Amino acid sequence: MEQKGLSEASDLTSAVHYLNKCFTLSTSDLVQISKEFQRAMTEGLFENKGPLKMLPSFLTTPTGKEKGQFLSVDFGGTNVRVLLLELHGCGKLTLKRWKSMPLRDRNGSYDYVSEKATGAELFDFIASQIENLIIADEVYSLGHTFSFPTRQTNINKAELINWTKEIKTRSVEGRDINGLLTEALHKRGLHNVKPVAIINDTVGTLLAAAYCDPYADIGSICGTGHNSCYIEPNPPNSYHSQIINMESGNFDRLSFNIYDDMLDRASAKPGKQRLEKMVAGHYIGELMRLIICDLIEKKLLFPDKIASISDFSLRKPYCLNAKDISFIMNDNTPNLTKLHSWVAKNWGIKDSSYKELSTLKSIASLVMKRSSRLVVSSYLGVLHHIDSSLSRKHTIAIDGSLYEKMPGYANSIRSALDEVLGGKANQVSLKLTKDGSGQGAAIAAAIAGTFVK
Ligand code: GLC
Repeated sequence: MEQKGLSEASDLTSAVHYLNKCFTLSTSDLVQISKEFQRAMTEGLFENKGPLKMLPSFLTTPTGKEKGQFLSVDFGGTNVRVLLLELHGCGKLTLKRWKSMPLRDRNGSYDYVSEKATGAELFDFIASQIENLIIADEVYSLGHTFSFPTRQTNINKAELINWTKEIKTRSVEGRDINGLLTEALHKRGLHNVKPVAIINDTVGTLLAAAYCDPYADIGSICGTGHNSCYIEPNPPNSYHSQIINMESGNFDRLSFNIYDDMLDRASAKPGKQRLEKMVAGHYIGELMRLIICDLIEKKLLFPDKIASISDFSLRKPYCLNAKDISFIMNDNTPNLTKLHSWVAKNWGIKDSSYKELSTLKSIASLVMKRSSRLVVSSYLGVLHHIDSSLSRKHTIAIDGSLYEKMPGYANSIRSALDEVLGGKANQVSLKLTKDGSGQGAAIAAAIAGTFVK
């Protein structure tokens, strides 16, 4: 979209009209993007090039017979969770104990995800959480969900290719992740905890769904980050089907608007994770903040209420988040009174007009809707790749805060799929797979145990 667009807007109505053009994807846009996505899948798989890494997981779907007690570590970048699970087979499991800790303390007493921390410190923190959950003289097999791109050489060995989601911890890129975890466990004398499997969170989500659903063949996260995996029937260098982690957040054959470019330029890794930066919870609040600041600077929004953007609380990058977007979209009172008080409390603007508040609502829903429709384009690319005529049933297992909690998000995904697939849409089910990462790690550990025997 041309940069001059918003500058030419003379009032809020024409500004919203311009933003609509910037953020709306038509049905044919979805189809076009899905074709590009499918092409990128093939390039990544067979030619090792293009934006999709197409990383082998060394796993296929579970049989449903996996049983036993397993420890799971779920490391996604915001929190680390440790879970003790009992798998009973046939899709049944019990969560026996669990613990979750943020990786960055809100009050600033520690931060394991900034460049100040090292990998050794980060994994020592994770080992300390494990220590708090287990009983000293029991032996545990551990499955590790590590939600970043890794180059895997077997089910238990994966090197971090690069951090995503703005994580910057030193001395982890290029290292064997379960090797680092094992070292940290041994330093604490925890020789009874044995890491046996490492997976991506998308793979965990797919494993958890497939533990009880034979049609599950795509796993996806729509949360702080965004990524999907699927079962590739004909992977290169293997006679068996295999789950492939696409790292689809790095897809970049898209058209970007000025806000996408602004966000990307100021990010930790410009040029990388372009789809994720348009879609994921970590970024969509920032996209909305950039739009609002632009409207304010151009004196189109709150012109008589804010003298200069430099005094305004919204000038701080990433101070608006996906929860705020949910809140803004969710005020259905006739006069937007909830939003009125929220704007007064959070931004210090006490006399916002109905028009201004409804503009905020429109922006939030434009950003949310584009996110969900882009996600659908990638699902369509995968579906077309594995079953071009949709001759069989598929379940897309989805986890993550956007899909679970953002008002309208899950519905928007469903209706975009229906819009493109028409009469074939009932071949595709969407399934919220809550805590797939934790459960999937236990299932992967059980599968790894079967390999060892
Ligand atoms: C980021 C990571 C990816 C993960 C996703 C969701 O995109 O690179 O591995 O699956 O976030 O957590």
